[in-house]
Amino acid sequence: MIGVHTQLLCADQVEQAARILRSGGLLGIPTETVYGLGADGLNPDAVARIFQAKGRPQDNPLILHIPSADWLERYCADIPPLAYELARRFWPGPLTMILKRRDMVPDAVTAGLDTVGMRCPAHPVTRAILEAAGTPVAAPSGNTSGRPSPTCLADMLEDMDGKIDGIVDGGPCDVGVESTILDLTVSPPRLLRPGGITLEQLREVVGEVAVDSAVTRPLAAGEKPRAPGMKYRHYAPKAPVTVVRGEPAAAARYIRRHLADGDGVICFNEFVPLFEGHPVEPIGPKDDRAEHARRVFDALRYFDGTQVAHIWAQCPDSAGLGLAVSNRLNKAAGFHIVEAEKP
Ligand code: TXA
Ligand code: MG
Repeated sequence: MIGVHTQLLCADQVEQAARILRSGGLLGIPTETVYGLGADGLNPDAVARIFQAKGRPQDNPLILHIPSADWLERYCADIPPLAYELARRFWPGPLTMILKRRDMVPDAVTAGLDTVGMRCPAHPVTRAILEAAGTPVAAPSGNTSGRPSPTCLADMLEDMDGKIDGIVDGGPCDVGVESTILDLTVSPPRLLRPGGITLEQLREVVGEVAVDSAVTRPLAAGEKPRAPGMKYRHYAPKAPVTVVRGEPAAAARYIRRHLADGDGVICFNEFVPLFEGHPVEPIGPKDDRAEHARRVFDALRYFDGTQVAHIWAQCPDSAGLGLAVSNRLNKAAGFHIVEAEKP
């Protein structure tokens, strides 16, 4: 498959895009969160190619993308009423629900689990493609395994040009971090990955939501995560990352004190002048968590084109979208986190 010609499709080439999916090909698709690498989710051979193109471990299941909640029953069993309530409130949008799967969902998608992740993305182009293809689309984020997720066409080309059949240009992604994953097969429902729908938003609808420990801390040796993907090194640039937590000005001062020649910095816009002479990626004003989410993967990716020895990153607290942003930064850092307040 390596060495195929990757066709660039415009937003209005929905029929061509759907044809690639129906014929078992691989297609880069824009979503409101990140770009995905899609294939016909009912075609095990096509799904197997996703794993090859990404270099993705076989035991990491994929989520299915559908154009509306009406399709849930085709692929899922024992759907609780809460799933429909969540769909009414948050779909189309950045929420993936883990539900009991039906037998027709190939093992290639679920990695043999008896559950499947279901998502209805909000990007109009991809929804039109899903409708036209008439099949659920299995799609992980479109990055090479381990790299930051792609949030624009250029990122997608960087990782997948020459490896997949087509990429649809849907512009830059609005949200910038992946969907929130909520497991509805357990009680209380459990947050497996923070994302574009915040924990606060979920609690408004669901009431009690458990937060999986893999969200905020590294797994212990031998510990098995509930979302298999949580055990892999993720989002990591080539240079090691240190996350500096704490009040923004204190964290910025901490970084300035510890910064060595040749180190890079991810910081809030207000603190850029402190790091003159270093490669700096600002991720937005300190209180603008939506902008941090839009910028975080791009900032991590940027440093792979530089020679920095070490990356120091400021990080929002865990309120709202901050939980998703800090999760991605912490994972990029392999949970190497320091507190600015401590001496
Ligand atoms: O926003 C998103 O969700 C993007 C766009 C393309 O839709 N997709 C995405 O997929 O982030 P991926 O494969 O990169 O991340 C899905 C995560 C993985 O960590 C995987 O292990 C977990 O979901 N997952 C998939 N199926 C699961 C299941 N049945 N039970 C638990 N975790 C599951
Ligand atoms: Mg991913």
